[in-house]
Amino acid sequence: MKNIVILISGRGSNMQSIVRCIEEQAWPARVAAVISNKADAAGLAFASEHGIASAVVSNKDFPDRASFDLALQQAIDAYMPDLVVLAGFMRILTPGFVDHFAGRLLNIHPSLLPSFPGLHTHERALEAGVKFHGATVHFVTADLDHGPIVEQAVVPVLPDDTEETLSARVLKEEHVIYPRAVRLFVEGRLRILGNRVDVLPECAQQTEKVQA
Ligand code: GAR
Repeated sequence: MKNIVILISGRGSNMQSIVRCIEEQAWPARVAAVISNKADAAGLAFASEHGIASAVVSNKDFPDRASFDLALQQAIDAYMPDLVVLAGFMRILTPGFVDHFAGRLLNIHPSLLPSFPGLHTHERALEAGVKFHGATVHFVTADLDHGPIVEQAVVPVLPDDTEETLSARVLKEEHVIYPRAVRLFVEGRLRILGNRVDVLPECAQQTEKVQA
């Protein structure tokens, strides 16, 4: 059974989609805790309604990025996670934090990376006139919004799209690809090869288990 810790900053709809999939399907995993850097994050109520431990580590309580990241790292480590999932966690992480969780830190970003790293991705996609937009699940590296890509979802950009309609279309796909990526991780089916992530077939994984 793999332990997952999910970090949020707000609404937490991606966190909810992962929790619901774990509840509905038999994954070899449990969400050990949901941690927010904001005490008023709406997603915290969902976590407690679902019997999941939650904690707040507020960046406002720390003088600098390094001391906040260290406190956050310690709060996460208390749950002995196999995987840490950033689900709308709106903080830039220090290299020390990223190194500590290397290979077990996933993020979802609302664009087809490497296009549009950073903020306001939907607005920037509309401004750039792209015909397709989407979302990316990737392993986190010290490079902001870069790292080996696990899953991507593509949506069309329609002529009358606004930031709201486009972000809603992308978010719907985020709720599909993030649980799928997390499930592949907990099933041990992801292999990072440099910049690339290979997904092992289910049968290969079963064969490995038999041989182990
Ligand atoms: C999601 O769209 C996620 O991709 C984005 O924040 C939103 C969080 O929504 N993340 C980033 O922009 C990270 N760079 P949620 O709280 O409802 O999951």
